Amino acid sequence: MNTLNRRKFLGLAGAAGLAAVTPSSLPAMTETGHETKSEDFTFLFITDTHLQPELNAAVGCDMAFKKAREIKSDFAIQGGDHVFDSLGVTKERASSLFDLYGKTEQDLGLKLHHTIGNHDCFGVYPASGASTADPLYGKKMFEERFGKTYYSFDHKGVHFVVLDSIGITDDRAYEGRVDAEQLAWLAGDLKTLPAGAPVIVSVHIPLVTAFDSYVPAPATPPKHHGMSVTNSSEVIALFEGHNVLGVLQGHTHINERVVWHGVPYITSGAVSGNWWHGTRMGTPEGFTVVEVKGGKLSTRYETYGFRSVDPQNT
Ligand SMILES: [Fe+2]
Repeated sequence: MNTLNRRKFLGLAGAAGLAAVTPSSLPAMTETGHETKSEDFTFLFITDTHLQPELNAAVGCDMAFKKAREIKSDFAIQGGDHVFDSLGVTKERASSLFDLYGKTEQDLGLKLHHTIGNHDCFGVYPASGASTADPLYGKKMFEERFGKTYYSFDHKGVHFVVLDSIGITDDRAYEGRVDAEQLAWLAGDLKTLPAGAPVIVSVHIPLVTAFDSYVPAPATPPKHHGMSVTNSSEVIALFEGHNVLGVLQGHTHINERVVWHGVPYITSGAVSGNWWHGTRMGTPEGFTVVEVKGGKLSTRYETYGFRSVDPQNT
């Protein structure tokens, strides 16, 4: 029962002179309108589509979305990097990529919640020729297409939080960061939840990952912290005391699961695999199916049979 129906039920009960008791068949709910017990349901976490006209990417994405729509699920979350790439290209190219993405997304036929990725930020690299004064610069093009870059919503008793993990730096690059304004918003958002309310988080750049342990250290350390969120400890601290069922992450294009303080940080492989060049460090092209059952979260990875025209198999 959704909030509206539940209120209607309680209102009717009151009007009929009945005690407004909570029937055991209804999920427990607090005055803030949040439920403390979730129903069972399935949703999809589809990330890193990296849509572009080259490398058969649109064909691959179309295949992935068509496979995804065969899976019975309530909705999907796009985990970021919708297009490849809008950081370093002209406004015309970036717009055409988002147009292509929008067209391809129709194949999914599901309600989709969007998470911003680094490659979704327009004109950040000076090589793009874009001016920082351009009305669509940075995150504005994404916002114009998809709405807010961080927000929350509720579904069947679960509180979903979608975070913006992209920090645009003064020297026109990006790093993994959740800024102070968003941290304050997140603290306030989580504060409205009753004890034990289930929470699921979506974020593009991982809050927690052991990715750096799988590859040799670079000869020169990167200028910016881009593989994970540099201030993740500030975000994780806000999760303490909440019933976070899982954090879904993208960006590295590999399947990985790290558990910290009982919270699984689940990174999903990419629809684009190794940026449309085949398998990425053992993770093929695919997406993640997420099941919420009995108040617990479980995931499985689905591939969809794409064959790269230019495999590198790294
Ligand atoms: Fe990506």
